[in-house]
Amino acid sequence: MNELIALAQPGVLSDPTTHAEFLTFTLKDQWLNVEEINEALSQLPGIEKSIRQKDSNAGLSVTMGFSANSWPILFPDVALPKELHPFPALADGGRTFPSTPGDIFLMIKSERKDLNFQVAKHMAGALKHIADLSEDIQGYKYLDNRDMIDFVDGTENPVSDERAESVLVSEGSDTELGGSYLVVQRYVDRQEDWDALATEQQERVVGRTKMDDIELSDEEKPASAHNAKSKVEIDGEEIKMFRQNRPYGNAIEHGTMFVGFAASVSTIETSLSQMIHADENGHYDHLLNFVEAQTGCNYFVPSQRFLDERFEG
Ligand code: HEM
Repeated sequence: MNELIALAQPGVLSDPTTHAEFLTFTLKDQWLNVEEINEALSQLPGIEKSIRQKDSNAGLSVTMGFSANSWPILFPDVALPKELHPFPALADGGRTFPSTPGDIFLMIKSERKDLNFQVAKHMAGALKHIADLSEDIQGYKYLDNRDMIDFVDGTENPVSDERAESVLVSEGSDTELGGSYLVVQRYVDRQEDWDALATEQQERVVGRTKMDDIELSDEEKPASAHNAKSKVEIDGEEIKMFRQNRPYGNAIEHGTMFVGFAASVSTIETSLSQMIHADENGHYDHLLNFVEAQTGCNYFVPSQRFLDERFEG
């Protein structure tokens, strides 16, 4: 496992930071030439390095992911990672998970919003000849790691070796090893509807207590609770993902960036399917009555070794 950890992009395994900026780029067209692409991508490591050294205590990292659409264009000589495919749109009973454009995803994490912005500005500039910046979301730590629905988010995330096992691809080609599958969805909260619920009702939606963040007992927890529907089990064994969610927004519109990493994209897709589809008893994830997905994209986040080899120069 240590060898895989050494290969990974550091931001895949590190905890969410106080500030995070999430950039979604779409490629300009299918006919970009290789020199243009290499010229753009090769600027990114230098930008990260220059800004990181402005404050070594800020914990700056930039994590890069690439879509199934962009991979053959950006890396024409490298086979597509086995499980990399477009985000499959899902819908049931008026609930929707749309699939939206996104070719290059940058997750900039640090303790400083200003440094994140500098990275974002310069990286968008470096990529401007090959890609359009279609979304730029600034997320931040809210209270004690709560979402804006006021519940603590991230408690059941795996830690240390279990985290690495959950997120890093451990079998496959050199390109796949030490990489990770990433699913990103931007949600908007229906805050008024949420605030109209009593605390006990909210707790039954999430499946945990609000103030102390304790899991409800099996007797108390409804089958429609978020933590019941999102949990993935195969043959009784729980398969974890690592969620680096961050709330974003302001008093006009706000919500959660769902940023989930897993060694197999099927873990996250199973979770999404369990959440949105009503089961034979009509149970779906009742959190979806109060938050609405606006975007949905799948990416592969290759190892740091892969980036170093491709982007050197
Ligand atoms: C607006 C969107 C979302 C919000 C506000 C949200 C919030 C939360 C909260 C408050 C918890 C309980 C604390 C914790 O263990 O982290 C939780 C747990 C969890 N969430 Fe979400 N979540 C969202 C979307 C998603 C999505 C899209 C997925 C899966 C694709 C997901 C998967 C999970 C999982 C696996 C757990 C842990 C379940 C367990 O083992 O107890 N969440 N989420």
